[in-house]
Amino acid sequence: MTENLFRVGVLGAGDIAQAAHFPAARKSKEVELYAICDAADDLRERMTLIHQPTTSFDDYDKMLNDENVDAVVVAVADQFHVPLAIRALEAGKHVLVEKPMGVAVEEAEALVAAQKHSGKVVLVGHEKRYDPGIAFAHDFIRDEIGELIGLKHWYCDSTYRYAVTDTIRPLIEHSAAARRPAGDPKANRQRYYVLGHGSHLLDTARYLGGPITAIRARLSTKAGTYCWFLDVEFENGCLGQLDLTLAVRMDWWEGFQVYGSEGSVIGKVHNPWYFKAAEVQAFSVKDDMFHQPIGADANVFRLQLEDLARAANTGSTPRGASAVDGLASVRGMVALARSVESGDWVRLADVEGAV
Ligand SMILES: NC(=O)c1ccc[n+]([C@@H]2O[C@H](COP(=O)([O-])OP(=O)(O)OC[C@H]3O[C@@H](n4cnc5c(N)ncnc54)[C@H](O)[C@@H]3O)[C@@H](O)[C@H]2O)c1
Repeated sequence: MTENLFRVGVLGAGDIAQAAHFPAARKSKEVELYAICDAADDLRERMTLIHQPTTSFDDYDKMLNDENVDAVVVAVADQFHVPLAIRALEAGKHVLVEKPMGVAVEEAEALVAAQKHSGKVVLVGHEKRYDPGIAFAHDFIRDEIGELIGLKHWYCDSTYRYAVTDTIRPLIEHSAAARRPAGDPKANRQRYYVLGHGSHLLDTARYLGGPITAIRARLSTKAGTYCWFLDVEFENGCLGQLDLTLAVRMDWWEGFQVYGSEGSVIGKVHNPWYFKAAEVQAFSVKDDMFHQPIGADANVFRLQLEDLARAANTGSTPRGASAVDGLASVRGMVALARSVESGDWVRLADVEGAV
């Protein structure tokens, strides 16, 4: 155990912990990978050997009872997020809960209430906010481009996704003893894709364009592809068009165009596992110039943990998604799903139930 570092306990030693949170915590100079907790003995033991946390636990309550744990990373299946995040808050821990924050409006509201009651920091794992290109675009939109007129955002997974990610990510270890929700969460592809990918799209669109008030969605499922086109109404009157497609028969294709009264921002976002900052160009009529940042440090998962540490230690406002943002994404996903069923506009304030 190292003095003065922010001590993180990661719940779940599965895919995202192995590819993102374990290496991110180990590479950070501000965070310590203090504990790994997983009910699957073989997986936990292998990960403990590789990543050398100070300690490990086979039981979540044991990790929560360890007073050295400052924050818990909830890196388990979507259906488990909210109850386990609430237990961490009740144990006095700060929380980074993976996206989507929850699978239904009511449980997401319960986590927002628990966060307020606890006074602890909750971040939701919408790590794209830490992409230096997207962060630059956000700040430029906020500070430079005036009134927002239109926002287009597309998130198209590649038909070659796994060929690419299997090559560039660490080899993922699996366990037959891994604890998973009953049934097969992937059986309903629409729901699975909206939860897994739609949550990212909606959060980034909100991050750039502000709160979303209503959605009208259409879905095409031709040729085994799931292609959603969304009309979106932003609270500030900006018109929105979003595209969620899994998968396009080409490379990863994600990006945005934002038009304001005093400028514009365009961005190309890379497959997240390249850890390469989005290529962003921001134009301002003030100087008739394009501004193009180069984001050297795009280790979004490490930046996310360090943001959590700073917010917990100093009270600073995190760049990351709060529990309120997580709830807004859940409302957005439910609105998207209901709109596909009805063909009508759905107001986010009116939705209830599960995605
Ligand atoms: N941020 C991103 O870009 C991103 C990318 C991929 C996955 N995710 C999210 O990460 C989450 C985890 O996905 P995954 O694929 O890593 O899951 P996984 O099923 O591979 O791993 C979860 C692990 O948690 C353990 N576990 C579950 N409940 C437990 C409990 N109560 N006590 C102890 N151990 C427990 C399981 O045994 C399993 O090993 C999902 O919500 C997913 O949406 C996020």
